[in-house]
Amino acid sequence: MGYEQGSSNLIRLVSSQPDTQKIPQTTFSEDTVDWFRKQRSGHMAKWLFSSPKFDGDKACGATVWEKVIAQAKTNSDYYVFQDELSIINAALPKLKNHFKSPLTLVDLGPGSKDAIESKTCPIISELHSLVRQYISIDTNQDFLKSAHQIISGYYPQVANGSLCLDFIEDSFRFPAKENTTVGLVFGITLCNMLIDPREKDLSIFLLASSFRRLRSHFSTAEGYLIITQDTNQDERKLKAAYTAISEYFYPLLHRIRRDLAVFGNYDPKNFSLDLQFIKETKAFSVSFVADKKMTFTVDGNLINLKAGDRLYMGNSFKFDKTQFLEVANSAGFSHIETIEQPNNPCILHIMKTK
Ligand SMILES: C[S@@+](CC[C@H](N)C(=O)[O-])C[C@H]1O[C@@H](n2cnc3c(N)ncnc32)[C@H](O)[C@@H]1O
Repeated sequence: MGYEQGSSNLIRLVSSQPDTQKIPQTTFSEDTVDWFRKQRSGHMAKWLFSSPKFDGDKACGATVWEKVIAQAKTNSDYYVFQDELSIINAALPKLKNHFKSPLTLVDLGPGSKDAIESKTCPIISELHSLVRQYISIDTNQDFLKSAHQIISGYYPQVANGSLCLDFIEDSFRFPAKENTTVGLVFGITLCNMLIDPREKDLSIFLLASSFRRLRSHFSTAEGYLIITQDTNQDERKLKAAYTAISEYFYPLLHRIRRDLAVFGNYDPKNFSLDLQFIKETKAFSVSFVADKKMTFTVDGNLINLKAGDRLYMGNSFKFDKTQFLEVANSAGFSHIETIEQPNNPCILHIMKTK
């Protein structure tokens, strides 16, 4: 597998042979049917971020996300965004102790414009003369386009490319030009696992597997990972935090009605949001609970829901620091340094490929 610089200046992957290890992606329709039938749980969060398609469209997760993050910057119980920013800023002056030679920066899941400007750009500015190449990798094309635009605008001297790939499920190597690659994973992405939050040991297994997949993409002699983690296990604070952004979860129920063929008595108003911290698995879990009996079809698939049926929508796992580092170590990353601040549950690890 190699890469080429396209006319649009986006790096496109070119595969010389079929990628036999590629796992077929499920569609929104399949994921939704499995969710309503409780055949799979915790996997719907990846569909939350949807752009509105007409005036008054309630399937507007992307717009609501921008709004809740703007609130989180001023006064909100949703601490994750601000506390992660704070720990990234605290780490900045330490970066030059670890990185001394020219490097390729790989942004794994750059996310929205705001996230790139507030989290990725400060890293590039801090390591300014060393960052020679920037590669953003995301499954969301819109995020890749905005990452490309922002980085080209602020850092025209940095070679800039994007890969529309799944960095957990796809097999590929980072197309790094420099001898050192530094991967960034911000937004607690690895802990937002698309699994049933009640399954004991599954999250640890998946975390290890995700680290192993990340490790497999490094192609240079020297590889580093800068990754943040939320270690908060205080149920009251977690509930307050996710309640503050609860408006962000509802557009999913509207997206189902907008983007799929739904017939019967499905109505987003017939669901209540429920937030739980499952101590045994350390999952902070977001569910929708059916308030009444509903019978409907989704793309021709019959769904029957009873009042009280709980549908696990998405999770953020709140692992201990030691547990997280042990898993990373078992998957091929040795610990270099962890940056911590008093009263900040978000911590930042610098790791090196073994
Ligand atoms: C939780 S958001 C974090 C965004 C941003 N880094 C931040 O700090 O706010 C996760 C981002 O990673 C992307 N993403 C999540 N899982 C991914 C995967 N397995 N492969 C590629 N992109 C993924 C999402 O599309 C989104 O842009």
